[in-house]
Amino acid sequence: MSDKTISDKTNSTETDNFTLTDNATGKSWNLPAQTGVMGNRLVDIKKLYGETGTLTYDPGFTSTASCRSSITYIDGENGILLHRGYPIEQLAKHSSFMETCYLVLYGELPSPEQKGIFDAEIKGHTLLHDQLSSFYHGFMRNAHPMAIMVGVVGALSAFYHDSIDINDITQRRLAAHRLIAKMPTIGAYAYKYSLGMPFPTPRNDLTYGENLLQMMFCNPAEEYEINPTLSRAIERILILHADHEQNASTSTVRLAGSSGANPYACIAAGIASLWGPAHGGANEAVLKMLNEIGTPDKIGEYVKKAKDKNDPFRLMGFGHRVYKNYDPRAAVMRETCHEVLEVLGIHDPALQLAMELEKVALEDEYFIKKKLYPNVDFYSGIILKAMGFPTSMFTVMFAIGRTVGWVAHWKEMLQDADQKIGRPRQLYLGSKQRDYVAMGDRDISDKKSGWTWLWKG
Ligand code: CMC
Repeated sequence: MSDKTISDKTNSTETDNFTLTDNATGKSWNLPAQTGVMGNRLVDIKKLYGETGTLTYDPGFTSTASCRSSITYIDGENGILLHRGYPIEQLAKHSSFMETCYLVLYGELPSPEQKGIFDAEIKGHTLLHDQLSSFYHGFMRNAHPMAIMVGVVGALSAFYHDSIDINDITQRRLAAHRLIAKMPTIGAYAYKYSLGMPFPTPRNDLTYGENLLQMMFCNPAEEYEINPTLSRAIERILILHADHEQNASTSTVRLAGSSGANPYACIAAGIASLWGPAHGGANEAVLKMLNEIGTPDKIGEYVKKAKDKNDPFRLMGFGHRVYKNYDPRAAVMRETCHEVLEVLGIHDPALQLAMELEKVALEDEYFIKKKLYPNVDFYSGIILKAMGFPTSMFTVMFAIGRTVGWVAHWKEMLQDADQKIGRPRQLYLGSKQRDYVAMGDRDISDKKSGWTWLWKG
């Protein structure tokens, strides 16, 4: 039985189309336009290659919609982010992470009964298989926790054989709920392992955020006391990271999943993609950058470096592919940051420096012209640092929050009748066909040798 349930909400009429003309031959083709419920109109090029023999070129997918989706909407020009239609600011203020997970995954806010069932399902999967815990001992104690996350999450498929058949919707659900439930345990164990501390037991009497905090910071010899401001802050951080439509890691999950790969392997691929400093690794990079800048008098020097085309340095936590306005998540994060620092009585010079840097950058012609605003990662690192998270765990927190988004997109992709294996094309710039040359007959006057030359590209 087919479970292709995505509804076709796009509008396309016979007159709503684009004309593509090949100026070399004078031939023209009509390409249909499509409009979603909100957002940009787009040109549908599905049949372009078949009808014209021509491909499109769009590195970084700056102009390409790779799929249709009903989960998250971003209006980058106006700094708007909606999950299933609900503004992120309202979810951050009124919702819990579990409720947001239900919304992102299933499309609607849950009734009390649905919420109760969902909570119980997730809590039923917070433990790790005992042998999976042994898996950690194969890693170096100083391994980066994201390296451990990629390995352990990928390894889940070797432990939970009852949930890797993607054609069985019960197994899909089981895998989705397991991933959401186990990520805090997997992340916290990576931290505890680095400290040489015993692995804590998840506590199902606590909320998702509280349990994450207790697993991270508990000491088996003492009782862990929940600080309500911190548990609220961690819930907010998780909500703010829950989903962000077709970013690099989510697209990676979809691409991996499009081949029919099992869900644990797909999420491990997403974690690997998230780790990069241009994506989820930016929160860690922001703190490193603030440490490097050190004092406010050095800001000018670093802003100058960021603007220099010949210097690879960029202001981490600034800029976004989609937002050409203040990232709405950064605004909530900024407010939460102040709350947390006040409650904890922390006067962090890194925050002072961050605020000064933000001010200088927002008034700078370069950043104004290029519409580079602080993004979610600019403030999240400072809050996490104040809460006691080591820098290396920042991206792990991002991964824990984003797991529901990855899983929701994987679920949606499998239900979409348009779904095909992802297989981009390319613009080939290499040698034309040529015949093999025997070693002794090769031209050795070629100076293009040495590792540096070979890797410089
Ligand atoms: N500092 C200095 N210049 C920048 C920055 C920055 N942070 N970001 C972009 N630019 C410049 C860039 O040099 C380019 O200039 P030009 O047009 O003269 O070539 C222009 O602005 C457009 O940048 P781009 O790299 O073409 O834009 P993109 O959409 O490909 O990249 C980005 C987006 C987020 C990768 C980039 O802004 C960046 O590297 N930011 C710093 C890393 C960061 O904070 N990443 C977290 C993103 S938000 C969390 C998430 O969703 O993962």
